[in-house]
Amino acid sequence: MTLREVMGRAREVLTAASIDDAALESEMLLRYVLNLSRVELFQQLNTALTPGQEQAFAGLVARRLSREPTAYITGHREFYGLDFYVDRRVLIPRPETELLVEKAIALAEGNPIAVIADVGTGSGAIAVSLAVNLPGAKIYATDIAADALDVARLNCRKHGVAGQIGLLEGDLLDPLPRPVDIIVANLPYVRKSDLAQVNTIDFEPKIALDGGADGLDKLRCLCQQVPGKLRHGGHILLEIGQGQGEAISMLLHRLFPFAGVEVTPDLAGIDRVVAVTLTVPVFSSSPSASL
Ligand SMILES: C[S@@+](CC[C@H](N)C(=O)[O-])C[C@H]1O[C@@H](n2cnc3c(N)ncnc32)[C@H](O)[C@@H]1O
Repeated sequence: MTLREVMGRAREVLTAASIDDAALESEMLLRYVLNLSRVELFQQLNTALTPGQEQAFAGLVARRLSREPTAYITGHREFYGLDFYVDRRVLIPRPETELLVEKAIALAEGNPIAVIADVGTGSGAIAVSLAVNLPGAKIYATDIAADALDVARLNCRKHGVAGQIGLLEGDLLDPLPRPVDIIVANLPYVRKSDLAQVNTIDFEPKIALDGGADGLDKLRCLCQQVPGKLRHGGHILLEIGQGQGEAISMLLHRLFPFAGVEVTPDLAGIDRVVAVTLTVPVFSSSPSASL
């Protein structure tokens, strides 16, 4: 069979299994099997596959039919225009998280030697994107999962930014060796009761998704750790999920009464990033620090 024929057939079975973007997915799987760029694939559409290639492709389509995400099958995911290695040790970076990176870059551009913390770095997608776009910045990337940090390390090396990023294992801000200018975090924020609805739940690490009863457990803990970890005038940028904007804003106003708090929606109109600017120092002894 030709490339065109096997791709068409794969598209049909993926569509029948209600897998979104079936045409794109079958193309990505075939490109992966044949190790071809997009242009090369389209130049060779009438070329026949060898029986071995057909078998390998069929195996990948079967994995996709079992709902394994294409990013784990191919080991690749594009984020902020960069190619990241991913596997089941880390969450697959989501396009909506690019908003967090955009906002952090805009804040750091006024301070070319900014020190930034990426909390819950996973694959390192945020930290690496920041390092590539802010060559003067120093970045600390923390994660509680040692195996996620192994993946982040691979991505730091892949993009030549290992010297700019300090990978630190530990709970939230705990491992930071000094106060930073910007804290960026895409922490788990899925409500426990909604976990079953995440369509990648059988494959992605639960520790990367589970945000507790209201989804805000990790964000609450992070905010409580801020005193002593953020410089005066510093910023916090947090990714949140649908319907969490109001609750997190109230929490932040209570904890940081003199801070500016702004919620920005993503392209789909869903509240996605909360930005906090601290105009006065925060002290851990503050009575408002208890939530
Ligand atoms: C939603 S994933 C985000 C991964 C990556 N930042 C991204 O945007 O693709 C959350 C990450 O937070 C990590 N994490 C969960 N609890 C944590 C904690 N208490 N301290 C540090 N990292 C934590 C998980 O291991 C996971 O890698």
